[in-house]
Amino acid sequence: MYKMLDLFCCAGGATKGYQKAGFYVVGVDINPQPHYCGDEFYQADALAYPLEGFDAYHASPPCQGYIHLKNGEDLNGYPLLIDDCRDRLLTTGKPFVIENVPSAKEYLRNPIMLCGTMFGLPIWKHRYFETNPEIYALLNTCNHKLGNIDSPFGKIAIPVQTAHGGDSQYHERPSRIGIRWRPAQPITLRRWAMGIDYEMSKKEIAQAIPPAYTEYIGKYLMEEIMRKKEKPITEAEFESLLDKASQPLEQPQKPDSKEAGTSESPTSGDCSENHTHSDSPEGI
Ligand SMILES: C[S@@+](CC[C@H](N)C(=O)[O-])C[C@H]1O[C@@H](n2cnc3c(N)ncnc32)[C@H](O)[C@@H]1O
Repeated sequence: MYKMLDLFCCAGGATKGYQKAGFYVVGVDINPQPHYCGDEFYQADALAYPLEGFDAYHASPPCQGYIHLKNGEDLNGYPLLIDDCRDRLLTTGKPFVIENVPSAKEYLRNPIMLCGTMFGLPIWKHRYFETNPEIYALLNTCNHKLGNIDSPFGKIAIPVQTAHGGDSQYHERPSRIGIRWRPAQPITLRRWAMGIDYEMSKKEIAQAIPPAYTEYIGKYLMEEIMRKKEKPITEAEFESLLDKASQPLEQPQKPDSKEAGTSESPTSGDCSENHTHSDSPEGI
């Protein structure tokens, strides 16, 4: 099973998607994560955690600094970690993904944007993904059209908009939206809208990305890993195959006339023997 390292994993919205794509996922976060859904968890600084032994990497560095920067505010001590993450991940030579909010998109290299509505989720949540190698994906466009849908919670107005869900590059912000994240909203509704089927607190959900995003990207990464692991044929192996192909085929042995037709049933020998029997005039 291929191993993914999920840096800044929180409770594992991204991790869950990579698991669904087939990865064994190890998560790292500076804070304890009692709800982490991955296969292994380590509480550590993501910028110091050893990178050896993994097939691919994901990093979701904190977004607050980029949001402050975008709003022209003081960074307030929030770090900007995207460049440091990229520098570290490039040293591995392996596929990696860096994810962040719309306010950070200028700091990501050729990112693709994913929204819940592209995956049939009733949620408006844009997130940007820098991928190495780049993914040239054919995606549905977002659909933020207002409407009502049946849900396990009765009829709800959609799209559900989450914190930092929208961004102006793709659409005008509509004057009204279906539901905003409000403290009163049940956690079960939030989880359902995100496609999260395991325990998470409201704070963890607010930080998480819908697993559908990384399940989608994870499948591309998986293909890339498998493609790189395919061993090309060496010149010596090719020559030896050519040699074998140019040698004459072994002639099938004619059966001993005394034994022919006596002991073995027509189906018990190999195919060439059976042909010899029926093709020869004696066999008729
Ligand atoms: C936006 S959340 C990640 C959400 C996650 N990708 C998901 O889908 O659930 C960022 C996380 O980074 C963690 N964090 C902040 N600084 C860190 C550091 N230096 N090393 C490791 N984790 C850190 C925070 O504790 C937080 O859980």
